[in-house]
Amino acid sequence: MTPNSPLEPRSLGSTTMTVTPLCIGTSPLASMSRLYGYDVDERRAIDTVKAVFDSPITFIDTSNGYGEDGTAERRIGAAIRERGGLPDGVVLATKVDPDPETGDFSGARVRASFAESLERLGVDRVPLLYLHDPERIPFEEAIADDGPVRALVRLRDEGRVDHIGVAGGPVGLLGRFLDLGEFEVVLNHNRYTLLDRSAAALYASAADRGIGVVNAAPYGGGMLAKGPSVQASYAYGRPDDRIAHAAGQMQRACAAHGVPLAAAALQFSLRASVVDATAVGVSSPERVAQTLEYANLAIPESLWDELDTLTPPRELWLD
Ligand SMILES: NC(=O)c1ccc[n+]([C@@H]2O[C@H](COP(=O)([O-])OP(=O)(O)OC[C@H]3O[C@@H](n4cnc5c(N)ncnc54)[C@H](OP(=O)(O)O)[C@@H]3O)[C@@H](O)[C@H]2O)c1
Repeated sequence: MTPNSPLEPRSLGSTTMTVTPLCIGTSPLASMSRLYGYDVDERRAIDTVKAVFDSPITFIDTSNGYGEDGTAERRIGAAIRERGGLPDGVVLATKVDPDPETGDFSGARVRASFAESLERLGVDRVPLLYLHDPERIPFEEAIADDGPVRALVRLRDEGRVDHIGVAGGPVGLLGRFLDLGEFEVVLNHNRYTLLDRSAAALYASAADRGIGVVNAAPYGGGMLAKGPSVQASYAYGRPDDRIAHAAGQMQRACAAHGVPLAAAALQFSLRASVVDATAVGVSSPERVAQTLEYANLAIPESLWDELDTLTPPRELWLD
């Protein structure tokens, strides 16, 4: 089976945004070697963003908190300037983060984070602004009158952003945020991949309610792209040995069909009916073309069946 077209623009849930199912994530562009194991220099990062602008991909994901002092946003901003503006039709989403010094994640900090992002990116507005990793504060603090959720709702009410979303890890907590009825998009990471299905129910329930679903990190942060012998971490940490073992078995199963593991990992997400967009992190211009190639590669149905039998058991999934 070939995937749904990775480039056919579609609505992001019930929002007014139209995006390609392929989204480029920009955390590797922030040169966070602690997470990815290597540095990325500024020129390479800017050229990567420009390669995305030159491609048919129209959805880019970033955050106030990617890299020291907003490195990812600053590099995207530089690419936008070099291009003379954000190309028409590109949906650039960012996220609000706590103050990196104090950890403050109040409503006031949300407004400051948003202002910083606009300044770094050199844009007047963004169509989609997420609450980023709300697992960093207690739920009650997040929903307090002077907390970040109310501040995001106010930014939307004031027309400063078109849509708000919630992005993070733990699926149970994200479900609680969606139940507030305010968020129009949910982004989860590393939990709907060849190796982990913890986000399946969250995504199904979001899709049922017309909430846009962005599945981030289909490669588990690199293991499912580079292979477990090159990238031993999964979801930015050291996983149970059985995760790397399963990834190795999957890599061999893919190789027997002449399919790169990355292509299967990417298409696993792209072909899921509950996923509107898949956010893939890349850090060089060549990766953009390679990602498109992998998204379009024909993968035999029998390989999907085989990969399914190699999925690690639930007790090894993230929460
Ligand atoms: N809480 C949140 O909001 C949250 C959390 C996680 C992720 N995200 C978003 O989702 C995006 C994706 O997550 P991610 O970047 O952490 O993980 P990912 O997409 O699962 O994996 C990224 C890694 O895969 C590598 N890769 C990509 N294509 C490759 C290819 N064709 N061959 C070999 N290696 C390849 C990249 O290497 P190269 O650098 O060599 O290209 C990078 O090391 C992020 O960038 C971010 O925008 C959001």
